Amino acid sequence: MGDSADRTHFGFESVAEAEKARRVRGVFDAVADKYDLMNDVMSFGLHRVWKTYTVAVAQVREGDRVLDIAAGTGDLTLAFARKVGPRGLVLHSDINEAMLRRGRDRLIDEGVLAPSLLADAQALPLPDAAFDVVSVAFGLRNMTHKERALAEMARVLKPGGRLLVLEFSKPAAPLAPAYDWYSFNVLPRLGQWIAGDAASYRYLAESIRMHPDQATLKSMMKTAGFGHVDVHDLAAGIVALHVGIRC
Ligand SMILES: C[S@@+](CC[C@H](N)C(=O)[O-])C[C@H]1O[C@@H](n2cnc3c(N)ncnc32)[C@H](O)[C@@H]1O
Repeated sequence: MGDSADRTHFGFESVAEAEKARRVRGVFDAVADKYDLMNDVMSFGLHRVWKTYTVAVAQVREGDRVLDIAAGTGDLTLAFARKVGPRGLVLHSDINEAMLRRGRDRLIDEGVLAPSLLADAQALPLPDAAFDVVSVAFGLRNMTHKERALAEMARVLKPGGRLLVLEFSKPAAPLAPAYDWYSFNVLPRLGQWIAGDAASYRYLAESIRMHPDQATLKSMMKTAGFGHVDVHDLAAGIVALHVGIRC
């Protein structure tokens, strides 16, 4: 999806690849300040449960090396840093400076030592086989070249390492009408009301619809080098956690 030579999609719009990168940056520049509050409000706090579940499934151990991609304000980074302890490492990484800065400030406030890295997940400036666990929560959807990003995640993982992709997905059919109504009517209004920005939350709703469903993402992960992929549907598939084992 979205990997044609020079056109891709930004929500439902067809745009040039460079334009998409610019507009995704614009979205996260605009929402960075209100990002955490909006997450709580629009998911009724459920994003915390989904992230807690992700951390439980990741089974990060003391001394592990973890890369949190598209880490933003650092929810997963923080939870993983508490697991790896002083002998381990969690790298807090994102392409967007405003989001990365919010996360870095928060990590410092929490007394957590986790270096921040400004990096595009589609071309990671990191060596091969350097991490035990890689995570990407609600980030893959925004990437133009998802196959390339997944291949990069495989490359930096040690053999046997685990990739956790937490992302919006395709909900069970009976939920679809209510979910569509909420996404296209309520979300942009909440965005306008809380963050003064309806457009970014309209993009959120559209980008979710354009993202590969559970089975498609699973097969993309297998192609990228993950020999075994488990899919965990959360909230009836509104969100899915894909767990891939690097082989
Ligand atoms: C919805 S936020 C998720 C933040 C955090 N992981 C969470 O779950 O709260 C999506 C993040 O993906 C980042 N992102 C988008 N494209 C990216 C790319 N190509 N490489 C790395 N990060 C990217 C954005 O800058 C943004 O911070």
